[in-house]
Amino acid sequence: MAILRVSPNLALDQAVAQRQADGEPLVHMGFGEARLPVFEPFVERLAAGSAATAYGPVAGGAAAREAVAGYFTRRRMPTGADQVMLAPGSKPLLMALQLAVPGDVLIPQPAWNSYAAQAAMAGKQVFGVPIPAACGGVPDPEEMRRTLRAARARGHSPRIVVLTLPDNPTGTLASPHLVHEVCAVAEEEDLIIISDEIYRDIVHDPATPFLSPAEVAPHRTIVTTGLSKALALGGWRIGVARFPADGCGRRIHDDMVCIASEVWSTLSMPMQAVAEYAFSEPSEVQEQLTTSARLHGAVARAVHGILTGAGASCRPPAGGFYVYPDFEPLREELGYRRITDSSSLFQHLLDTYGIAVLAGHHLGDDEGALRFRAATSLLYGDTRELQQLALDSPDPVRLPHISAVLERLDESFAKLTS
Ligand SMILES: Cc1ncc(COP(=O)(O)O)c(C=O)c1O
Repeated sequence: MAILRVSPNLALDQAVAQRQADGEPLVHMGFGEARLPVFEPFVERLAAGSAATAYGPVAGGAAAREAVAGYFTRRRMPTGADQVMLAPGSKPLLMALQLAVPGDVLIPQPAWNSYAAQAAMAGKQVFGVPIPAACGGVPDPEEMRRTLRAARARGHSPRIVVLTLPDNPTGTLASPHLVHEVCAVAEEEDLIIISDEIYRDIVHDPATPFLSPAEVAPHRTIVTTGLSKALALGGWRIGVARFPADGCGRRIHDDMVCIASEVWSTLSMPMQAVAEYAFSEPSEVQEQLTTSARLHGAVARAVHGILTGAGASCRPPAGGFYVYPDFEPLREELGYRRITDSSSLFQHLLDTYGIAVLAGHHLGDDEGALRFRAATSLLYGDTRELQQLALDSPDPVRLPHISAVLERLDESFAKLTS
């Protein structure tokens, strides 16, 4: 059994919350949460669904599964209701996939921290594959081939690759060309693709092309998503998975139902009522997604500008609410402050400037690299009123409460690198 520890992002969030409660004025960018007020129609659906107190079918009730199937079908992935499954968050679905699909696992490096932890808990070997220069969320295809060869030569059996589109932690989106390339390697090497598309509906620019691996390699791709990020319902725990219609897809789906039946039984029925409504995407939900994507994009771009202005290199954010700067160009200057790696960079930012971020090594990156992930969605304000103001604003970075925190970041990073 792998050594167990609390997921570093959740641990950091709790530590920051404690320090803030003790009166420390921290700028918290360490936790990947879309901090937005609940969209009122969801509350109504939840209340209406609360009378349903029976357990219900393991994979989810027919109405919720139909809605989810429609969601995927509208995204060029024709889907039947028997191909989908709902669960209390996509995280348990991703864990169950590690149990249901045999073989070791390739993940991009860096990647969302839970992939490696979950694979290790399932007794698998994890291989981090460096990401390409253009974006994260996918392994560099050539490095992927090299890693596969080396892993097999050492007696391992990689059978799974996990992709994140758009990506956490880099906030970038792999191009259709790269998706094709990675799928081609997966085909050649007979890998199952797990495509985590939880940030898909908050790509900042609606003109950005999105290609799911399930469109390119439909027989070997499982897609997961949920309402935690795009619709800011993290604490409500609503996740879904889509399986290939045939072949191994059916078997994996059936095994997942067995695992779910022994672990979480089903997604709670009131949450299924919310899921049915959200995944059917009435116009007001679509509007909420558009507005949220606009806000996430505006603030992520502003923070990206501050970091690159201070001299860091950083891929421009394209979706979700993260940036992942690299302070390598400033290694010498940072060295004078005894900042030499990911841990010391994190600690210095916290202790000197009160800025909390997630250090890159927690995301599988090299400990020696000067990288971290900043979750920019935590800058929208501490109250529901301020967050709603941010959501409603055509120019959120000019709102006094957001521009004040951006100024603080600007001054801090300018000082750090001066
Ligand atoms: C890339 C990615 N996948 C999956 C999840 C899990 O989300 P949930 O379990 O809330 O659906 C997260 C949450 O941080 C994430 O960032």
